[in-house]
Amino acid sequence: MATPTTAARFEDLLSVRAAIGRGGPAPGGQAGRKPGYEFGSGRPDPASFPYDGLVVATARMMAAEGADALTYGDPQGYVGLRELIARKHGRFEGLAIGPEDLLIINGSSHGISLVIGAFVDPGDPVICEAPTFSGTLNTLRRHGAELHGVPLDAEGLPPAAVRERLEALRAQGRPCKLLYLMPNFHNPAGPTLPLARRRELLAVAREYNVPILEDDAYGELRFEGEALPSLYALDEDGIVTRSGTLSKILGAGVRLGWLLAPRDLLPIFQSFNFGGGVSPFTSRVVTYYLRDHLEEHVARLVEVYRAKRDAMLAGLDEVLADTDGEISRPAGGFFIWLRLPSGTDRAKLARLAAESGAGSVPGTSFFPNGGGEGYIRLAFSYESPERCHEGARALAGAIYRSID
Ligand SMILES: Cc1ncc(COP(=O)(O)O)c(C=O)c1O
Repeated sequence: MATPTTAARFEDLLSVRAAIGRGGPAPGGQAGRKPGYEFGSGRPDPASFPYDGLVVATARMMAAEGADALTYGDPQGYVGLRELIARKHGRFEGLAIGPEDLLIINGSSHGISLVIGAFVDPGDPVICEAPTFSGTLNTLRRHGAELHGVPLDAEGLPPAAVRERLEALRAQGRPCKLLYLMPNFHNPAGPTLPLARRRELLAVAREYNVPILEDDAYGELRFEGEALPSLYALDEDGIVTRSGTLSKILGAGVRLGWLLAPRDLLPIFQSFNFGGGVSPFTSRVVTYYLRDHLEEHVARLVEVYRAKRDAMLAGLDEVLADTDGEISRPAGGFFIWLRLPSGTDRAKLARLAAESGAGSVPGTSFFPNGGGEGYIRLAFSYESPERCHEGARALAGAIYRSID
């Protein structure tokens, strides 16, 4: 439906760019907020957002299909976006899927909530990693799940410990209703699950008849090494649902993600959704942008976030190398997990860390059944590499001075 006014509309949209600016608002959006190092929440880098590209994509999309974008959409999500996400799995992982294998969701937290809603009733046992993503913990708690955290080791979730827990639950006549895990660049702890463990976990879940929710929010942001097949790709029995998101590879504000699941499960998840399809308008904008830019944009983000990770690690190492603290070295994602040196006076650290201006999240936020007092999580995603280095040194100094 191109019209003579299209060019004028396009110009108007481009002028919006100047109003948006490049940096976006400060975290929390509060004017006059004390400047500090935003290492707390995993916010994507605002300098990496493709402002111009999205403006252009919006204009192109409106000219091509504006009326369709502004009405109710397909309950499974805009087919153009599902085709694009299917193509992404082919290009990035060699995984052949089609648009019919995907449900578009309002960010992966929404999809996680749909899956939990489908499988978990109040009081049902659920196994998750300890530590695990705090957002999912909140959702599981809201659904009344009985949480069974299985401690991670350096390689992630140990299948033998999961089997032990499943056996104990079976002995009580209480089957586990869901196994939730993050095989890639775990948030917060960092490890990536080796291939053998992926296979073993699938075998254990199959044996105990437990559905798996595989959260892959950061899978595309791999800084080094080869991608491993996902649990979904290895699954031959239709027990794995995998969640993905555009939050980390485009912008969390688009609120779009996907569930990749066995075809018989998708209508069940979809039935927990309110009608109208998720964001038909935004789905089209991002599709028009990513059709031309996906690979190149993600490749740029990998460079951006790798530099930030390295800068933060350098800042921490420079100060803490001669302590017995442990600093994770994730091969991708947004986070560093730090075990505080023994003898750290945590009250003193809280005071000195506040003076340093560096935020962090206490380890206790990530544990389903208590624990984590000796840990903190740092996000390197938001600040520039220079500020990651400077802020990490400042925080590491606070930690060092807090050792008794
Ligand atoms: C591991 C993990 N899963 C899921 C999410 C949810 O992201 P979104 O709802 O923006 O897709 C996050 C966000 O930080 C995350 O870290």
